[in-house]
Amino acid sequence: MIKLTLPEIANGEDKSSDLANRIRKNYRHVRKWARRTGTDCFRIYGRDIKEFPVAIDFYAGRFCVQYFSSRSDDEEIPSKYKDEIIKALRSVFGAEEDLIYWRTRAKYKETRQYEKLEETKEFFPVFEYGVKFLINLSDYLDTGLFLDHRETRQMVASMSKGKRVLNLFAYTCSFSVHAALAGATFTKSVDMSNTYCLWGRNNFNLNSLPAQNNPIERADCLKFLNEEIRSKTTYDIVVIDPPTISRSKKMEDLFDIQIDYLSLIEKALPLLSKDGVIFFSTNSRKFLFNTAYFKNCTIQDISSKTIPLDFHSSKIHRCWKIKLAEV
Ligand SMILES: C[S@@+](CC[C@H](N)C(=O)[O-])C[C@H]1O[C@@H](n2cnc3c(N)ncnc32)[C@H](O)[C@@H]1O
Repeated sequence: MIKLTLPEIANGEDKSSDLANRIRKNYRHVRKWARRTGTDCFRIYGRDIKEFPVAIDFYAGRFCVQYFSSRSDDEEIPSKYKDEIIKALRSVFGAEEDLIYWRTRAKYKETRQYEKLEETKEFFPVFEYGVKFLINLSDYLDTGLFLDHRETRQMVASMSKGKRVLNLFAYTCSFSVHAALAGATFTKSVDMSNTYCLWGRNNFNLNSLPAQNNPIERADCLKFLNEEIRSKTTYDIVVIDPPTISRSKKMEDLFDIQIDYLSLIEKALPLLSKDGVIFFSTNSRKFLFNTAYFKNCTIQDISSKTIPLDFHSSKIHRCWKIKLAEV
């Protein structure tokens, strides 16, 4: 039995607030689905009202508020928004302020996302389709689980029984953990960051999945692919969900999705088993996929199937299924 944290809707006083009303409506809708699917982390507000340019995500009773600023020097959410959000969350959930975590996402600061904010090491578990993941809302800009890919993970899991799965840019291994629990015989997760590799291992452990069949490798994915091709290993499913841009001391060059996607996919194709499939995805809104470059592949845009019900903008990510065409 799993114990979800899905509070009742509080009898809030602030019935006149548009923000509170919208959050209440969204939560009411998503909670029914959440109960049914064994999930207690989801979006409860996503810039639905023009006057409130924030996203609010619910993680098992805690709230992560992201403020989208158009100014690169904006560090803090303006108090006119902050006060209103605190009031709204108190009205709908009876939430105390210490359960609300604040983030600012300033434009033009995409490479900042892996910087550490604090070091509380405060991790707590949430459920997604009955699978457990560790979340940290204090120390990093990202939380440990990208909620917009919930359905993509579910899609990969549904195909994973008896399969070998490679997860590139694995972050906290959420794709691989889902795949392993769904019966994958082997998963390999690759990420450049020590912190995220360790976090990923803890996610496997939390779900009682053995390390032996689920290795995690700390490596630059482009270099890893060169070596994996040489080893003649194959996989039935390859997940490629890279950042838009990344710069790190561990990498010689800047990673840029618009430039590097070609070699990523080109190098992943020889690793596919017969009938193998690549799931490739990006959050970059400007990204252009030149499918003509991959003449020997069938490429299907599956984005409409991978956007979850709690994300009201279809632009949150795009996703493609890539297979070698039959000859
Ligand atoms: C957008 S996240 C990937 C999200 C992830 N696929 C998921 O499902 O949650 C970016 C991740 O890519 C990793 N990363 C960035 N550049 C990399 C590279 N060249 N090789 C390996 N990992 C990289 C970062 O450490 C980070 O964990």
